[in-house]
Amino acid sequence: MRKPMIVGNWKMNNTIAESIRLVTELKELVSEVEDIDIVVAPSFVALTSVAIAIQDTNIQLGAQNAFWEESGPYTGEVSAVMLKDVGCQYVILGHSERRQYFKETDEIVNKKVLSAIDAGLIPIMCIGETLEEREKNRAFSVVETQLKRGIQDIHSDQAENIVIAYEPVWAIGTGRTATPEQAEEIHFHIRKILSKLYGNSIANNIRILYGGSVKPENISELMAKPNIDGALVGGASLDSQSFAHIVKFEQ
Ligand code: PGA
Repeated sequence: MRKPMIVGNWKMNNTIAESIRLVTELKELVSEVEDIDIVVAPSFVALTSVAIAIQDTNIQLGAQNAFWEESGPYTGEVSAVMLKDVGCQYVILGHSERRQYFKETDEIVNKKVLSAIDAGLIPIMCIGETLEEREKNRAFSVVETQLKRGIQDIHSDQAENIVIAYEPVWAIGTGRTATPEQAEEIHFHIRKILSKLYGNSIANNIRILYGGSVKPENISELMAKPNIDGALVGGASLDSQSFAHIVKFEQ
């Protein structure tokens, strides 16, 4: 079955010293946790230090973005190959903040997802509707379009190596979480689309995370839903205690 996964997206926070402090506290707090993939995604500049700090622990490393080419004249960009080299196993792609502030389209996200897979990274591809889209009853169709375009050309033999994160934009950093029912109905919809594309057995192995104001107070009710396989956590991942509580599904 699907192994639960909790990812801390630190966004543009923490110096190197702060990153090391946070992950050092965290590794003590979660050292006994088994059967959950625990991932932290620091900024690019802290990846090496965090990679060293989590050696021989149950914490894995992710990045928050990657460019789609392997190398070349792309000033300021970092490739998936470079992230693999620094010790990442995962990369978050298509986060709504990147779609909003850096105009990343589904086509761009798709190129990034394909390059991450080629480099041997597991992409965590984010999709989710805005408040306006939800209010116009377009949440299901927006998510469907983002999903299908984002994973275009991923063949069935690679499909189990992707992770989908459903993050309703209106729930990110707002303190306003989707209810477990609202999240589950979208997750169910996502799994149905994946089943149509890849068949039931592959779709049943693909993890779908929920993100958007996940906290110790709401993690257990979210995780109780059949199609919610974990969480992508922003704000609450910056505090080692809160993140550890989320990893343990406890308040
Ligand atoms: P949040 O962010 O937990 O602070 O709402 C989630 C995310 O953007 O991944």
